[in-house]
Amino acid sequence: MRTEREQAIWDIIQQYGPTDPTLLESAQTLPLALPSFGQAEIAEAMDALLSGWLTMGQRVFEFEKRWAQYIGVKESIAVNSGSSALLVMLSAMIECGYLKRGQEVIVPAVGWSTSLFSVAQAGLTPVLVDVDPDTLSLSGSFEEPVLAIHMLGNPAQVETPWLLEDACGAHGAEIAGRKTGSIGHCGAFSFFFSHHITTGEGGAITTDDAQLADACRSIRAHGWVRERNDRQQWENNHPQIDPRFLFASMGYNLRMTEISGAIGMHQVDRIEGFVQQRRQNHQSWCEMVNALNLPLRVYPEAPNTRHAGFAFPMMLDESAPITRAQLCAELEKRNIQTRPISGANLAIQPAFEKVPNKKIRGDLPVATAVQERGFFVGQSHAFTDAHGELLCASLKEIFAS
Ligand SMILES: Cc1ncc(COP(=O)(O)O)c(C=O)c1O
Repeated sequence: MRTEREQAIWDIIQQYGPTDPTLLESAQTLPLALPSFGQAEIAEAMDALLSGWLTMGQRVFEFEKRWAQYIGVKESIAVNSGSSALLVMLSAMIECGYLKRGQEVIVPAVGWSTSLFSVAQAGLTPVLVDVDPDTLSLSGSFEEPVLAIHMLGNPAQVETPWLLEDACGAHGAEIAGRKTGSIGHCGAFSFFFSHHITTGEGGAITTDDAQLADACRSIRAHGWVRERNDRQQWENNHPQIDPRFLFASMGYNLRMTEISGAIGMHQVDRIEGFVQQRRQNHQSWCEMVNALNLPLRVYPEAPNTRHAGFAFPMMLDESAPITRAQLCAELEKRNIQTRPISGANLAIQPAFEKVPNKKIRGDLPVATAVQERGFFVGQSHAFTDAHGELLCASLKEIFAS
């Protein structure tokens, strides 16, 4: 039974709110991203607003519970972005003594800017290495800790004593039936608008390690002990300090708002259907593009993995009669949005100069190719084969001209 207020909210949402986000978009354009939220999210967010409680509260904690359950881990700590999740997670790894300040951490040369920066910001030494030509994610065996980015939803298969996952764009991806974010010691997710599910801006850390989770809870919120599960122990050990302002870590303020938590709670209910649709699109678009026999490479799902289809990457052959810039411009003219494959080769970005103590291991031929000839178009749970056909018809026309 709804209260009068709840009913009033529902009446407005039903009149003005978005229809079901799984409804198909028309296949006239290929945008980078589409909204993923529906009426349940708006109702919960409005309820949060009307309750007067806007900062991290019960809805954020409920979202954390649901996200941990979906990923298959014991602990999830919500923050205000994927970049924050990475920074908090890596800082907590040092605080718990698992990593030492200054220690080398392997980072893929093809990745997002803040994946690399967060390693340095946490006080570690990033070592850029090249990625696997078949997945554009890292692969292989390393002696050092690794921050493995599951690139655009394609799982990185890495062996290392300390696997730290950047699953920011890989919600629901799997290796051997285990979800990314639950494979390594800990994982980071982003819930930015364009991701599989969204909280507007937002992120989360996932782990089975209770000590690491408590360190993350302090680091995300001023360093205080308030949300830690071992809070009582801290209070007992420091009876002279008012427990309301008892600080255990040199933290930041990177909390998720209650409105984001409200949206996230209901997004988790939708994610599995979204990932299944994206995966199906990914596989079938790969087949469609391959059937065109163009000098253009796609990246099908690797054996033993589930591809989460965050975006649809492609790479021109060296022999292609058109440049990357020309092809992207032609696609954009046809209402197909394009982007570089994340930061492409991070080693040549001007910001890389400013990263202290960074290293590069070996040549980076795949990262260089991604830089020169790679790009992606959007993928979405609201797309189908019809959108793949639009992409293919455009590619055919461009290469024929
Ligand atoms: C691999 C990866 N890591 C980190 C991030 C950063 O996430 P956010 O934009 O939420 O800070 C992104 C963003 O898309 C990403 O793709």
